[in-house]
Amino acid sequence: MHTANPHIIQLPKIIDPRGNLSFIEEENHIPFNIARTYWIYDVPGGEIRGGHAYKELQEFIIALSGSFDVILHDGKEEIKYHLNRSYNGLFVPKMYWRSIENFSTNSVALVLSDDVYNVNEYIRDFEEFKKMRNS
Ligand code: TYD
Repeated sequence: MHTANPHIIQLPKIIDPRGNLSFIEEENHIPFNIARTYWIYDVPGGEIRGGHAYKELQEFIIALSGSFDVILHDGKEEIKYHLNRSYNGLFVPKMYWRSIENFSTNSVALVLSDDVYNVNEYIRDFEEFKKMRNS
C-alpha cells in the first residue's frame, strides 16, 4: 500500500518582543482542508494516547505547549518524533499506527484533522493494521 510520508512541517513564526505568533492556513501550510480540531490535555504522567490507525483520515499534530513523542508505525518499522515547539507540527498520513506518549507536565497536543469524527475510520487491532498495510 502506498501512502504519503509523515513529515515535520515548520509553520510561520512571527517573532515579536510582545510574544511570538504562529498560524496555519488549510491547504497552504498543511496539505489538507481542516474539518475538525481537537486537543489532548491534562494527561497524567506516563499515560499513552492513541494506539490506532485511520483508514483514510489525515492529521497534523502540534505540541502547542510542552512536549511529547509521536510514535508512527508503517507496518514494518516505527519512527519516533519528539514534538516540543509550537511552530512545528507532524503531518500524519492515513494508515500509520500512531501513539502519543511521554507527555510533559501541562502539555497540550493540538490535532487538526481532514474529516469529522467517525468511529468506522479507526483500526484498533495492530495485527489487523499490519495485515492491511502490508497487503
Ligand atoms: P480516541 O481517538 O480513541 O483517543 P486517543 O487516540 O487520543 O487515545 O478518542 C477517545 C474518545 O473520544 C473516543 O470515545 C471517541 C471520542 N472522540 C470524539 O468524540 N471526537 C473526536 O474528535 C475524537 C478525537 C475522539
